[in-house]
Amino acid sequence: MTSLAKPPNDAALVRLLRAAQSAYGYLSPEILESLASSAGAHIGDVLRIYGSMPHLQAYPGSRDEVLVCTGKHCQNAGAATLAGKMGRRVRRVPCLGCCQKAPAVVKNGRVARARLEQLQPA
Ligand code: FES
Repeated sequence: MTSLAKPPNDAALVRLLRAAQSAYGYLSPEILESLASSAGAHIGDVLRIYGSMPHLQAYPGSRDEVLVCTGKHCQNAGAATLAGKMGRRVRRVPCLGCCQKAPAVVKNGRVARARLEQLQPA
């Protein structure tokens, strides 16, 4: 039996993955398969979009990790200097797709404009 429902487009998959990342805190292979199935999307499309979003986390336990964008706009806004001054685990990732928030970081699974005082451990 074939489904007549139209599969979600890339923008819808991006929204779906962001929402799932926010809800679960990470996106395991099992979660990605479940999302693809429930959305009526091909798992290959979900994995392609997932692969283009380096700030998404594939495993739990990394919520204290801060991702710092290494894209051009963020570097021009001081991301490298910011990352160097941060006293916690930092992972450098390519453009997060939200250049208007430069210098952009991901903290606790959410994209934000970086300010050093907000990134210090509590
Ligand atoms: S260059 Fe940093 S979000 Fe695009």
